[in-house]
Amino acid sequence: MISMNTSVDWARLRTDFPILNQQVHGKPLVYFDNAATSQKPRSVIDALTHYYERDNANVHRGIHELSNRSTTAFEAARTRAARFINARSADEIIFTRGTTEGINLVAAAWGAQNLKPGDVILLTELEHHSNLVPWQMIARRTGAKVAYIPVTGDEGTLDLTRLDALLTSQVKILSLVHISNSMGTVNPVQEICARARSRGIVTLVDGAQSAGHLPVDVQAIGCDFFAFSGHKICGPTGIGVLWGRQEILDAMPPYQGGGEMILSVGYQKTEYKPSPHRFEAGTPDISGPIGLHAAMDYLDAIGREKIWQHDQQLANYAYEQLGALKNIRMFGPKVNRAGLVSFLLKDVHAHDVVTLADQGGVALRGGHHCTQPLMHKLGVESTARASFYFYNTPAEVDVFITVIKEIQKFFAA
Ligand code: ALA
Repeated sequence: MISMNTSVDWARLRTDFPILNQQVHGKPLVYFDNAATSQKPRSVIDALTHYYERDNANVHRGIHELSNRSTTAFEAARTRAARFINARSADEIIFTRGTTEGINLVAAAWGAQNLKPGDVILLTELEHHSNLVPWQMIARRTGAKVAYIPVTGDEGTLDLTRLDALLTSQVKILSLVHISNSMGTVNPVQEICARARSRGIVTLVDGAQSAGHLPVDVQAIGCDFFAFSGHKICGPTGIGVLWGRQEILDAMPPYQGGGEMILSVGYQKTEYKPSPHRFEAGTPDISGPIGLHAAMDYLDAIGREKIWQHDQQLANYAYEQLGALKNIRMFGPKVNRAGLVSFLLKDVHAHDVVTLADQGGVALRGGHHCTQPLMHKLGVESTARASFYFYNTPAEVDVFITVIKEIQKFFAA
């Protein structure tokens, strides 16, 4: 079995997650569905409880004590989020419901203002539906077209030899995933964004699978937008962050209209607030940012470079052992993979793998992972996926491998 970085007490960290200490179907829970959602440490649960027990009030509206406390905590989370991704200013941080809403916001607000017939929206064949469907929708509305950077095959890496040819003068925006949720590919977003920006193309990076797993510096990446979700980084569901470069946000029209986003309203005309409040109509999710603040503090107290090393070690360990089995098809890159493994057992549907693994206490995910076009391209309907986080252990990988071997035996019998 591999040994993990001993400068972090991983076993003690695991005890911060009450949910992990339970049995499922009579077996200790092995939670390997972290790419879908992560578990929450006690500090995040406590932050939510504290907020609802002591401070709950609407933000930005009241001048009473509870409203002031609530507003202060809400805006402190915005400042914390800016630091989490090294944004220049908290004014560049828009709270959303998650990555999906962040991308929809850009596609609808930026896209409606900037796209016209004949323009091209460049994506990659790796994208999650959340970075495909909003662009198809705005393409239909504006007459723009969607084009794709191709993937090379089962390894799930992008064919960047095609990039220069694809970055035509018609391309107005390039939107791509940082880490693929179904393959574990880590895209060289810094290099790709630099090549796009040198041609005046706006860039968006989908950070749903990266923000909580490795250090993110939006200024170093050099993108114009970066979106991520709270629930995949130990925070609550229903909260996410869209970062946008200030000058682009300032030029963008609102996404939704309503309270909170206005300076003044008349019966015929409205003046909007500047970013970020222009993009946050209505009473926002208030406890979400407060829980997210606690999650960001928690992750950075560990250090995301250590989390990254840990997740990659577990994924490499799992990949090597799965790859040594007979009658298995492995997906994703062999080197520099993020903390997940994606595979198919010969003649066994991915859903059967997940159902039987569940009986052994191991929580996996099977399906198209919201990447249907990629699955079609690879000629499969689905894959089974194990995705790791820092509270997972090599011993859990061993349990998972044993369970997979038992599944193979069961279907061979
Ligand atoms: N996008 C999430 C996943 O990959 C739901 O499972």
